[in-house]
Amino acid sequence: MANRKSVIIKIRRQQTPEAEPHWEEFSLPWKPGMNVISSLMEIAENPVTRDSKQTTPITYDSNCLEEVCGSCAMLINGKARMACSALIDKLDQPVLLEPLSKFPIIRDLSVDRRVLFENLKRVKAWVPIDGTYDLGSGPRMTMHQQEAAYPLSRCISCCCCMEVCPQFNEHTNFVGAAAISQVRLFNTHPTGAALKRERLTALMGDGGIHECGYAQNCVEICPKDIPLTRSIAEVGGAVMKQAIGDLFRR
Ligand code: SF4
Ligand code: SF4
Ligand code: FES
Repeated sequence: MANRKSVIIKIRRQQTPEAEPHWEEFSLPWKPGMNVISSLMEIAENPVTRDSKQTTPITYDSNCLEEVCGSCAMLINGKARMACSALIDKLDQPVLLEPLSKFPIIRDLSVDRRVLFENLKRVKAWVPIDGTYDLGSGPRMTMHQQEAAYPLSRCISCCCCMEVCPQFNEHTNFVGAAAISQVRLFNTHPTGAALKRERLTALMGDGGIHECGYAQNCVEICPKDIPLTRSIAEVGGAVMKQAIGDLFRR
């Protein structure tokens, strides 16, 4: 553990998607309440490495700084988590910062997480409404329905569940736990359920729910405690039911 008056941070850097990665080490004065993002901001003010070499500010994504936007996910001491809520005092030093490993690198700690948004489109994770005219209020949801939907609606699209999933890789095309959980959310919404059949069909094809090996890494890493394995089990059951029904309708 470094001296409490200083914080040592080692960052994996990569200037372009094609460049070779390398490590740079920084020493910052300790301040109360520091987190990984505030440390990166401090480095940006004075980008000089621990061995006194002038360098460039670190590229990373962040926005809300309160674990709501999901943009600051990275590997911190080897674990996928949100940088804005990672308190320096709770981390072993040197603090190792790396980009998520399963997404294309843009630069340094910034990665392209487009695949999640493409997967959400693939499963039609939205409530289908025509926004060109006033439809009036939608159907009311019972308290029970609201309580079931709320935990699922907390997803911040951080991609941590995909990073740790052994099935999310270039060979499987697996849609991932976040998109499956959003299928559960929108299929139980009174208006969203209009697309239920199409969502379940999307999960039957290439990279669909059958790819899940039920390793449960996703539910353990999710920063919003979303019941992902429950979603996978429920949506898996609905996909199976629809597939069997379709077989008999032929
Ligand atoms: S249960 Fe395992 S295989 Fe399935 S989505 Fe979660 S981490 Fe991936
Ligand atoms: S389900 Fe959890 S881990 Fe996955 S993207 Fe949403 S918030 Fe992140
Ligand atoms: S900056 Fe928004 S979640 Fe970390």
